[in-house]
Amino acid sequence: MSENVVILGAGSGIAKALCQRMAARGCSLALCGRDTTELERDAADLRTRHGVKVSVLDFDALHFETHDDLWNRCLAQFDGHIDGAVLCFGTLPDQKGCEVDQSQLRTAIDVNLTAAASILNPIAAHLESNKSGWLAVVSSVAGDRGRQSNYIYGAAKAGLTAYLAGLRNRLQPSGVHVLTVKPGFVATPMTAGILDPKSPMVASPERVAQDIDRAIEKRRNVIYTPWFWKWIMVIIRNIPEPIFKRLKL
Ligand SMILES: NC(=O)c1ccc[n+]([C@@H]2O[C@H](COP(=O)([O-])OP(=O)(O)OC[C@H]3O[C@@H](n4cnc5c(N)ncnc54)[C@H](OP(=O)(O)O)[C@@H]3O)[C@@H](O)[C@H]2O)c1
Repeated sequence: MSENVVILGAGSGIAKALCQRMAARGCSLALCGRDTTELERDAADLRTRHGVKVSVLDFDALHFETHDDLWNRCLAQFDGHIDGAVLCFGTLPDQKGCEVDQSQLRTAIDVNLTAAASILNPIAAHLESNKSGWLAVVSSVAGDRGRQSNYIYGAAKAGLTAYLAGLRNRLQPSGVHVLTVKPGFVATPMTAGILDPKSPMVASPERVAQDIDRAIEKRRNVIYTPWFWKWIMVIIRNIPEPIFKRLKL
């Protein structure tokens, strides 16, 4: 199905793979991100390969005061008609750094949670008043349970997951669909040097993008990607707290 789609954080590894899939099925795209030079290169590639309309918009998630205007600029790109938006931006902070540096802590929570809620505000209002459309937002399995090695990131993603559950509940009567995406380990710039991309536990961005694209089409509510993370997280969530607090995770 060809649609008009806004991609927030379009430079992300997962977003790039998703853009290729969406453009291949004829979607027109608005790529929003900080590195507009790289996004212009991506846009040219998508236009050449797939013959679709692609625009590039400068977007810094931490510039909260620009969020309403960004959405208006996106609407202008599509003559007022947008079918859906994908939110892919995020940051994986240094946990130890966040424990001692208020600025790192604040940025981690602001990018992963506050900025997401802020930019989703005008988008949700627009889709709700139109009584159609969809949102797909990338959260993380890290939000399912806090672990000592990454609980700041996990807390922000847990907040995002809860926010999305509430937003889905709010938008249901207006027919606007909200998809929460919980990836496990994915080989992207975010995890370069941390994860072994050849490990069977580490998915390619293309695999994750395929799951997201299918979930958007099937109007799924929450997905784990790849699928087996659902069962890993069932186990993690069910470890009793007296045991869990003693584990080095
Ligand atoms: N990779 C994994 O294992 C994994 C697992 C679970 C969830 N996730 C989530 O998946 C999403 C996509 O991440 P990825 O794996 O594709 O990593 P990535 O390639 O590092 O992408 C992260 C993107 O976020 C953007 N970003 C960061 N701060 C921003 C800001 N202030 N304003 C605008 N954009 C900003 C970055 O933009 P710049 O290019 O300008 O820096 C980058 O394009 C993130 O939400 C991440 O938390 C990833």
